[in-house]
Amino acid sequence: MACRLVILASGTGTIAQAIIDAHELDIEVVAVLSDQVASQVLERARTAGIPNECIPVGNSRNQWNSEIIEKTAAFEPDLVVSAGFMRILPPDFVHRFPTINIHPSLLPDFPGAHAVRDALAAGVLTTGSTVHWVDAGVDTGPIITQMQVPVLPGDDEITLHERIKKIERGLMVTTIALILPTLEQHV
Ligand code: GRF
Repeated sequence: MACRLVILASGTGTIAQAIIDAHELDIEVVAVLSDQVASQVLERARTAGIPNECIPVGNSRNQWNSEIIEKTAAFEPDLVVSAGFMRILPPDFVHRFPTINIHPSLLPDFPGAHAVRDALAAGVLTTGSTVHWVDAGVDTGPIITQMQVPVLPGDDEITLHERIKKIERGLMVTTIALILPTLEQHV
């Protein structure tokens, strides 16, 4: 049976799209969830005919924490993929669902929300991307795969992030293929 996958994303969703288009993988994208009502990723899900929902963070973070767990659980995922999801998932979430995240730096270097900017500011000549298991920390879980990307003279945050995102799409799809045989599936 295909692996049931829930994607979490906040933005343009090009990595989510690469997963949706990866027909060679034995997966079914059962839902795309976002915290941003206007995010392009929700439009991508609609176009692909994938159930999708926005779960905005309102006044109560505790309520959002319960909601994201409930709504994800309803789709019975074997794997959750955070692909540009700009929220920290509650510990109860990551203990319940095997979850991976893609981060635009070579972790443990440059964790957090400004990884590309921080790498440029540090003057590194090489940065990259990391796919890792999500634990209760911020970008701290066990690393699964990484790929290097050069920083080129004249790069700014936008050009460097675009170069990183070009490899992230393939890195994510390849990483899902690698871990699929290790996952327990709902029967
Ligand atoms: C990627 O760089 C990913 O590493 C980071 O957010 C970006 C998502 O890009 N966490 P997109 O929205 O899939 O185009």
